[in-house]
Formats: sequence, structure tokens, C-alpha cells
Amino acid sequence: LFSSVQLAPKDPIFGLTEAYVADQKPDKVNLGVGVYFTDEGKIPLLKAVLKAEEELVAKHLPRGYIPIDGPNPYNQAVQNLLFGAHSPLIKDGRVVTAECIGGTGALRVGADFIERLNLKAPAAISNPTWENHRGIFEAAGFEVRDYTYFDSATHGVDFAGMVKSLESYPKHTTVVLHACCHNPTGADITEAQWRQVIEICKSKELIPFLDMAYQGFADGIDQDGIAVRLFADSGMSFFVSSSFSKSFSLYGERVGALSIITQSKEESNRVLSQLKRVIRTNYSNPPTHGGAIVAAVLNTPELRQMWEEELATMRNRIKKMRHDFVIKLAEAGVKEDLSFIEDQRGMFSYSGLTAEQVERLQKEDGIYALSTGRICVAALNTKNIDKVARAIARVLAA
Ligand code: LMR
Repeated sequence: LFSSVQLAPKDPIFGLTEAYVADQKPDKVNLGVGVYFTDEGKIPLLKAVLKAEEELVAKHLPRGYIPIDGPNPYNQAVQNLLFGAHSPLIKDGRVVTAECIGGTGALRVGADFIERLNLKAPAAISNPTWENHRGIFEAAGFEVRDYTYFDSATHGVDFAGMVKSLESYPKHTTVVLHACCHNPTGADITEAQWRQVIEICKSKELIPFLDMAYQGFADGIDQDGIAVRLFADSGMSFFVSSSFSKSFSLYGERVGALSIITQSKEESNRVLSQLKRVIRTNYSNPPTHGGAIVAAVLNTPELRQMWEEELATMRNRIKKMRHDFVIKLAEAGVKEDLSFIEDQRGMFSYSGLTAEQVERLQKEDGIYALSTGRICVAALNTKNIDKVARAIARVLAA
């Protein structure tokens, strides 16, 4: 039966974590996966999460099924966070939100939903993008194209190239856009450029699909929501996948959401009914625990305040690491100007390291990064930063 099954390549991100775990070097460093670590190198359990969890566990609640689209308090909290509590979209019933299995699950449910609309149009992802985007949309049946995004010469966005790509797509192309903290490059477009992207999406009748996995990691919750809010003001129908893996440090709980913005409350009812069918035939309904914690934190003012402070701590630590890293690299003898690392946003930096240099870091130093040169700055800390800077200086000089 399985004689013709080919060995699949390892996942470029989690496969690397497997190699890291197996590595015996005592001072190994994992800059591969997108996970925030504290200065002690630990994945934090946020105090707001712990408090909400303790209160929840103390209630000894039964574990019945929850609705196919997830519980209302969770979905409403997601909408408030994405669009702002006073958004007219929410008031007018134009947002359909379903709790999903992480941001990945939200992308897949959204892709399946669009595919069932039978629009016969491709999906477009940024070049480069998060490794899983292509796989998700291909698995849902899309032909996947790349739009120009990154300019390796400037370490920023090639916006003219992006515009040219977007303008070339046929009507109803699903365009996957990173709402903030672009993964893997850390290079975001400006507010004025978002407005231009929106105009193109409108005039070309594209389907915007905003992937929002890092809200709060660049400048703040509202500031990082700017793209979503501009699309909300545009009057368009669009999709948003969002995730609490990073912002709540709840990676393994798989807490995410898909929000679909429609034209009316009546349209929302029909969309929700079909969305539920997609979910029901996939995993039936979401798990209880993670969503209950997030809803409790977001809907309890004291816990919400605590979470916002903890999120700010994570954000500021990453910024400090970016700043210090640029200095340490120069001190270690790097001649190239790597100051772009400080300007990039969110967890990642597209370091410019080649696949060969990354391989040397792994073999010789036990420092793991993606072969594309993406490094997770959120895994740097005051104990490993000197080692990483020195090792990078060495491989760059070779
Ligand atoms: C990453 O990009 O490393 C994270 O988003 C984890 C994942 O699911 O790939």
C-alpha cells in the first residue's frame, strides 16, 4: 500500500526545531522558529494567562461541545481587538468571526471557504513569505503565485514591484497580505502604501486576506491594527486570520480566529452558515481551553491591563535586542552595515545570511536559523547575543 510513498522533506521551520532539540551542544541557540523567549531563554507563561487559567480551572467546568464557530465572548473579543470596540463594522453586523485552530487553521478555513465560492482565480503570496502560506493555499486547491515584495539591496519593501504584481492579477485573486511584522523579512509597508494597496484591491476586484499573527509586536495593539482598520474603512469585503500564539504566548493551545468582512448583516448570516459547514467537515468545532483563557483576559479589565503591559514588555525587549545586536555585530568586527536589523519590525529579521553561512552557524556553533537567512530576534538574550554576534562576524568574514 505504501510502497510508492515518497519521503517528504522536513518542515523548514519545525524540522529545524527537531534538529536543534537533538543537538548536544550545551550553548546551542534556536533562532529558527518564531517564538518569543524571555531573557532567561524561556517561553513565558504570561501572568494574565496564569490568573485567567487558575480562575477557570477552579470552576471545574464540564467540557461539552462549544459552537462550531466558537463561543461568542471569544469571537467578540477578537473583533474588538482587530477593528476597535467602536467599529461601525461590528455594530452593523458586517463581521463574521469564527474561532479557529491557530492562525494556520484560520488561513486554511478561509482558503477552503474561498475555494468553495468557485471563483476560479489564483491566490498570491508575498515573495518571500511565511513558509506555510504556499502549502496552505495549494492544499486548498489554489494555483499560487508570488507577488514582488522584498528588495534585498535595500533590506526594505520593493513597493513599485509589489504594485506592479498586484495590478497584473486577474479579478478575484486572493492576495495574502501580512497585516504587520512581515514574516520573514520584518519589513512592513507604510500607511500611505496600504492606502494604495487598498485602491488596487478595489479597482482590480482582488480578495484581500490579511494575516495578522503579530498584533502588538511592532508598535502597539492599535498601531499594528492600522492595515486592518484601513481595509475596514474601505467598504470592501475581506478576510483576516489572527492568532494569539505569539501575543498571549499560547503557542501550543492553537488559539486563532478567522474574520470575514461582508457587505451587510444579511450577507453575514449566509456567510456564517457556509463557514460553519467548512469547519464542521474539517474539525467539527474548536477546543475549549485556549479560547476561554483569551476571552477571560480580553473581557476582564484588570487582566486585559496586565496582558497589555506584558505584551509591551515582550515588544520592548525585542526592540532592545535589535538595538544591542547591531552594536554587538559591529563590535565583533562585522564591516557590513546591518543597521537595518534595528528598523525591521516584529520577531524576525531577514539577516542577509546565505544558506551556506546559516549551515556553518548550525554545524560549527549550534546556532539555528532558517536557510533563507531569517533569524528570530525574539530568541536573542543577554546571555547568547555575544556568541551569536561573534559567530555571524566569523562566517561573514570567511
Ligand atoms: C514561524 O514562522 O516560525 C511561526 O509562525 C511558527 C510556524 O507555525 O511556522
